[in-house]
Amino acid sequence: MEVEALEKIDYVAEINRLKKEKNAVILAHYYQTADIQDVADYIGDSLGLSQQAAKTKADMIVFAGVRFMAETAKILSPDKKVVLPDINAGCSLEESAPADVFSAFKAKHPDAVVISYVNCSAELKTLTDIVCTSTNAVKIVESVPRDKQIIFAPDKNLGDYLNRKTGRDMILWDGACMVHEAFSAEMITDLKAKHPDAEIIAHPESEKPVLDVASYIGSTTGLLKYTMSSPSKEFIVATESGILHQMKKASPDKKFHVAPTVKNGYACQACQDCPHMKLNTMEKLYYCLKNETPEITLPEDVIRDAKAPIDRMLEISAKFGL
Ligand code: 13P
Ligand code: SF4
Repeated sequence: MEVEALEKIDYVAEINRLKKEKNAVILAHYYQTADIQDVADYIGDSLGLSQQAAKTKADMIVFAGVRFMAETAKILSPDKKVVLPDINAGCSLEESAPADVFSAFKAKHPDAVVISYVNCSAELKTLTDIVCTSTNAVKIVESVPRDKQIIFAPDKNLGDYLNRKTGRDMILWDGACMVHEAFSAEMITDLKAKHPDAEIIAHPESEKPVLDVASYIGSTTGLLKYTMSSPSKEFIVATESGILHQMKKASPDKKFHVAPTVKNGYACQACQDCPHMKLNTMEKLYYCLKNETPEITLPEDVIRDAKAPIDRMLEISAKFGL
């Protein structure tokens, strides 16, 4: 056993030292644990993280998030080393859409434009015309001429929300986020009855009944900004629990409740935590930075073909100042 393993490691100090030594940058999603968010150089939503990954001058990107996010960083910065603290950090949306099955489905709609939510594999992105995130999804859908059929993959809940919002009739892939699907509109309404002044806010990956009881719907950044600008002093938040760290930091005078979740008909105390996002820990982050592994690698042709729809997304976002 290494001597170091027997010593107590000051992860924060060591991570900060290694970051400088290796000219590395830590990009973290809002769903990471509070300690990881606090040591990150940039914390953001999927769009912000992609934009940071595209422009960073660092030699190494340590991605504190899930695999599809780290893959997107690699696609945008192929010459940089991209590492992920836990290589098993996947996503239920990504799993729902294997590229070979999707390819056969796409072949049945040869004239359709494919818009894919960024929460999908690099291979699925190679079969996509434009990628989107929850921040820019409405603008991306609206960028496609109205007479064009659209396939939207893989999130049926976000797709359904976008159909209602834009008046389109996109063909929806049958995927869902395991966290957002667990929020219970009934239990949220019960909680609201106990806290009548609390505003209900929700991420558009949530199912329609949850979105129907929300007074604001938006991406993680959108939700965070809303809690800062709204005069309300209390919120019920229907998205992954990690976001509450930044909400509390930004508005220490306000009160936040994570929306209640259910699993198999019973209240679930842990379903607001994404089991993929929460695979990352400070210990794994430290070893990942130190040993520069697990590294994200992708075949050259996948990088080339997946980059085009991501670039298209970034261009459209920039046009709208997103
Ligand atoms: P955003 O942070 O882009 O809103 O995405 C939420 C999410 O589920 C990421 O996995
Ligand atoms: Fe995927 Fe949902 Fe986890 Fe985000 S929160 S990584 S969409 S399973």
